[in-house]
Amino acid sequence: MNFPPRTTSRLLLRSISPGDWPAIHRYMSDPSVMAWLPRDVLDVAGARAFAEKNAGEQAEALAVIVAASGELAGHMVFHPWIVTRTHEIGWVFGTQHQRQGYATEAARSLLTYAFEILGCHRVIATCQPENVASWRVMEKLGMRREGHFRACLHRPPHGWWDEYFYALLAEEYFADTGCLRPGS
Ligand SMILES: CC(C)(COP(=O)(O)OP(=O)(O)OC[C@H]1O[C@@H](n2cnc3c(N)ncnc32)[C@H](O)[C@@H]1OP(=O)(O)O)[C@@H](O)C(=O)NCCC(=O)NCCS
Repeated sequence: MNFPPRTTSRLLLRSISPGDWPAIHRYMSDPSVMAWLPRDVLDVAGARAFAEKNAGEQAEALAVIVAASGELAGHMVFHPWIVTRTHEIGWVFGTQHQRQGYATEAARSLLTYAFEILGCHRVIATCQPENVASWRVMEKLGMRREGHFRACLHRPPHGWWDEYFYALLAEEYFADTGCLRPGS
């Protein structure tokens, strides 16, 4: 993914680099952070592989850096989805960086990028109903809950998970922000 770095009032969003793996390992080895992710906690090798993959052409996530401290607080999932002009967005932050509005702030910047630069038609996000923090972020972004899938994800050893499906259309984004659509 060719991602030009973006800044917000408190954050820098940039591509992940291979050397980010120790910071990534710190939060992705934490069971409380990974509880509602569709993957297990990462060991050192897993964190290295995650950083390596997301530093390359197959990247699906971006690093979020706290500008004031330079710390890597977490990452944003951001990649094309299976439908044309549609991106999926997501968020994972270390516990010490949660509940400070960082996920919402980073996501707002990515929605701007998706709709105003990439020309996306739709951005989608999913989470489990029990993950209140995650769907709160979706709702703060103005995304709509479009679906509640019952027992749709098999997550051994936890069994079957329900899933909420949220989305935001370009027309909703532009109506809400009052920004002019490119080309209009
Ligand atoms: C989901 C996550 C990224 C949210 O990040 P964040 O930076 O704390 O989010 P924000 O501060 O921007 O907003 C979080 C909102 O959820 C609320 N919230 C946070 N934790 C909560 C909790 N445990 N229960 C209920 N609400 C919670 C906050 O109060 C806030 O809403 P408010 O502004 O109306 O008060 C973070 O909790 C996280 O990394 N969790 C672990 C990884 C994960 O589950 N990712 C999502 C997978 S789908």
